[in-house]
Amino acid sequence: MEKINRNDPCWCGSGKKYKKCHLPIEEKMMYYYNKGHIVPDLDLLKTPEEIEFIRKSADLNTAVLDAVAREIRAGMSTEEINTIVHEYTVSHGGIPAPLNYEGYPKSVCTSINNEICHGIPSKDIILKEGDIINVDVSTILDGYFSDASRMFCIGEIPENARKLVDVTAECVELGLAAAKPWGFLGDIGHAVNSHAIANGYSVVRDIGGHGIGLEFHEDPFVSFVSQPGTDMLLVPGMIFTIEPMVNEGTHKYTVDRKNGWTVRTKDNKLSAQIEYMVLITEDGPEVLTK
Ligand code: MF3
Ligand code: CO
Repeated sequence: MEKINRNDPCWCGSGKKYKKCHLPIEEKMMYYYNKGHIVPDLDLLKTPEEIEFIRKSADLNTAVLDAVAREIRAGMSTEEINTIVHEYTVSHGGIPAPLNYEGYPKSVCTSINNEICHGIPSKDIILKEGDIINVDVSTILDGYFSDASRMFCIGEIPENARKLVDVTAECVELGLAAAKPWGFLGDIGHAVNSHAIANGYSVVRDIGGHGIGLEFHEDPFVSFVSQPGTDMLLVPGMIFTIEPMVNEGTHKYTVDRKNGWTVRTKDNKLSAQIEYMVLITEDGPEVLTK
């Protein structure tokens, strides 16, 4: 990039002068870089215009999850969830991001009980009373990506399942609270993992969150088992997901050999996941879709 002068308009298109916009941010990043920290590339900082587009995508993503929430019930197949997601998204001008993503065959991921993530909808999988299911919805609108997932409890669920879902929700909230501007990515994973461990649970290690917005999966990788004060500096303008997978038993998993996608707990105990998509602002984290 050509050198910008202090009084030039900022590269981000805000209309403010560089010296009043990204120059102080870049100087602060340089300070941390010189102390040995990992700092994001400038292209991970979304511009105000990009943020507005991503926000619209995220609003549609939330509306899709709300549509699922209204209809999900015992006796329904996961294929029907796929149909709701697909039709709602397309009829509102969006594209389901999972469809054909690296060969993924459906428009949503539906992961039940011992499935950690990437459960594939099927007319043969019928929701029953007592199930817990993660529905992971990702949307492309006008070329901008959004992503969030919720847990749904089908009818009365066992006490252990209820506790797992509640603690997972607490883990995400604690992770969100730790997502402070000029803090570190590792603060988030530490907050999540500590709370999971305190409740006797484990957190999946090498599957995690990700930057998002201009692409489905961008840098950074977001670990949920990390150490405070480590990993990438959190800079205003970054957008990424907080989506820990919390297991009742071991953190170890298997991947379905036939479909190549579905991740299950190695001990077949329950797993829960909740995903928020978060923008780091100067004032703190802002949830774009959940
Ligand atoms: N939504 C998932 C995530 O949170 C990604 C799913 S990829 C798919 O990162 F192809 F399985 F849909
Ligand atoms: Co997702």
